Amino acid sequence: MRFRTLGKNGPKVSLVGLGFWEAGGRAWRSPKGNWVIDVVKKAIEMEINFFDTAEIYGLGSSERLLGEALKKLNVRDEVIVASKVGGFRFYEGLIIKGVKAINRRLGRTVDLIQAHWPPPAWMPICRAVRGLEEAVLRGFAHYYGLSNYPADLVEKALECSKRVEPVSDQVQYSLAYRTPENKLKPLLEKRGLSLIAWSPLAKGALAGILSPKDPAQRSDRIFMVAARDRKLQEALKTVAEKLNASKAVVALSWLIQKGAVPIPGTRKVNRVVEIASAANLEIPNDLMKILDDASKEYITKWGREYKALQWIRYVPCSIQYLSLLITRGA
Ligand SMILES: NC(=O)c1ccc[n+]([C@@H]2O[C@H](COP(=O)([O-])OP(=O)(O)OC[C@H]3O[C@@H](n4cnc5c(N)ncnc54)[C@H](OP(=O)(O)O)[C@@H]3O)[C@@H](O)[C@H]2O)c1
Repeated sequence: MRFRTLGKNGPKVSLVGLGFWEAGGRAWRSPKGNWVIDVVKKAIEMEINFFDTAEIYGLGSSERLLGEALKKLNVRDEVIVASKVGGFRFYEGLIIKGVKAINRRLGRTVDLIQAHWPPPAWMPICRAVRGLEEAVLRGFAHYYGLSNYPADLVEKALECSKRVEPVSDQVQYSLAYRTPENKLKPLLEKRGLSLIAWSPLAKGALAGILSPKDPAQRSDRIFMVAARDRKLQEALKTVAEKLNASKAVVALSWLIQKGAVPIPGTRKVNRVVEIASAANLEIPNDLMKILDDASKEYITKWGREYKALQWIRYVPCSIQYLSLLITRGA
């Protein structure tokens, strides 16, 4: 496995991580049982050391399952765990309360605490940033990062971060969603923040899953479009055959070569081996061009500005929180 440092002086993470929304997230209707332990065990064997979760995934059940797996496997100190506080935690007190609860569920101090989405449009970004800084300064987290912050809000967050700098922005980025390449990615590179890529397989469509099985896929326009995009599927197939790899590995390696840290989600142990192998695949320039060309339209198709999850900024915090309680999380 190869590793990279997040941000200027952040944690050292494997070039590919794993996402755990699937563990407990309602939208994935995941099976109960020991699969989380099995997936974590295989990931450790393959030297994947970076795991992502969030307080809203199954209202804490993803964090709990991940924490239990790490404890059972006795690897709590060997891995880098990232979690997220919801954007409804828009000031210091609420953020610290959220991070303390996350640590209780994980059974350890979270390494990277991320703001899952920015605060409502009428709330100052600086209050959220101060809360994240405070979580690090008071030892409740080792580093902090942003998530779903578009370029203008990253600029604002950096203006506010007087004491501790964020190390990353976790955003949607894949062959089927290249919007970050317009403004956000160049800005992150210039300011020394890492880009962590969520839905790196477009919820499975870029791995060749062409019909939706779970609500998370069915409700995702990008999954639907990528699954039906013959040109993109053909390009993935061509490159995969030439490199003797799978479509999923090619889609993840493409992201790694673009400088991002992908965090695919999977409930299947055998796929962890495949996912880890993406860190060792070198896609030569001529094959990168095939993928770049076949996915060109996705640089602007979903807009030039990063928009994923931005609608939540127009919903008052109390309503955001209540709807999560009613639906038992995402
Ligand atoms: N910050 C945010 O707002 C945000 C939003 C969404 C997600 N995330 C994070 O990003 C992580 C990943 O994103 P995601 O779950 O939306 O989508 P994803 O990783 O793009 O896709 C997950 C899907 O791909 C399938 N898959 C994984 N590896 C595969 C392989 N090798 N071959 C075939 N199929 C494969 C999985 O099925 P199986 O389970 O059957 O393998 C699952 O259906 C989440 O777990 C979460 O941690 C963050």
